[in-house]
Amino acid sequence: MPIQNIFKTKDLLDVFDLSPSGITELIELANNFSVQNRQSEKKIYNHCGKTVVNFFMESSTRTRTSFEIAAKRLGMDVVNIPVAQSSVSKGETMLDTAATLDAMLIDALVIRCTEEALPSTIAGNMKAHVISAGAGISFHPTQALLDAMTIFQRKGTLSGLKVAICGDVARSRVARSNIRLLQKFGTDISIVAPDYFISQDYYEEIGVKIYNDLKEGIREADVIITLRVQNERTLIRSDKADAFDFGQKLNSYVLEYRLNHENIKAAKEDVIVLHPGPVNRDVEISSSLIDDEKYSMILKQVENGVAMRMAVLHALLGMEN
Ligand code: NCD
Repeated sequence: MPIQNIFKTKDLLDVFDLSPSGITELIELANNFSVQNRQSEKKIYNHCGKTVVNFFMESSTRTRTSFEIAAKRLGMDVVNIPVAQSSVSKGETMLDTAATLDAMLIDALVIRCTEEALPSTIAGNMKAHVISAGAGISFHPTQALLDAMTIFQRKGTLSGLKVAICGDVARSRVARSNIRLLQKFGTDISIVAPDYFISQDYYEEIGVKIYNDLKEGIREADVIITLRVQNERTLIRSDKADAFDFGQKLNSYVLEYRLNHENIKAAKEDVIVLHPGPVNRDVEISSSLIDDEKYSMILKQVENGVAMRMAVLHALLGMEN
């Protein structure tokens, strides 16, 4: 597929708009970039002179850094706007900020924010490409793409696999984005969590199974995606998933749901474990499992994150060539 056809619009706001062949093409492109990334000369210069602006309204280590590294490896110039020192903190609207950046003829805006509709509102009012780096509890397209890349590398397919998503699903844009992406490939998906971490999304109606019991939920799984308890994120929808009271529930959550070398035996022998990071060691996953390369894909995901973001930038910014 020519890269010009991967994206239907100039922006990447959700995985929903991508076709299975577009996703496969992005994975192939990213695999090529990841070979390049392992050379001592990592930089390629196809996009010299293009300008990318990172605008992160929420904390981030890996996503922000990997977008920056990805753009620089493609020869682009990158500007990071510290939100607290931007004019948004003086009351400027995001649309005025977007118009200001457009006037500087930037090529792409990478945005992370709490408000789910904001990236698409900005995209509709901006000439530059807009890429969501995480919005609210629903959208995190590049994370879903890099997770798919990681699964594909190890399993050779996305179809016919059993994937269990464990933990704080209610507040996870990673879970929602992964479900939307993997369902395009007919992946068998289960959610494994206590009721207070399961939102009233229509999972069962879309064929996602729900388990309260960890071992039952991960039984025979090929892939486990485990999630952080995301206390800083509030639920926008009315939900039975109450605000998580750390003091009261954390101990029982850890006892029943922490993934470790013992309970993981319920999954397939060659199961792999993904986690978007940041991890809270010994909360959602045991410290020893995080560091066990037989299972843990966590640092591979970080490495793939750079390559996948290179693929996304390359394909989006290459649309007009
Ligand atoms: C995730 C996020 O921000 O949604 N992190 C990430 O982008 N790697 C998950 C999380 O914060 O737990």
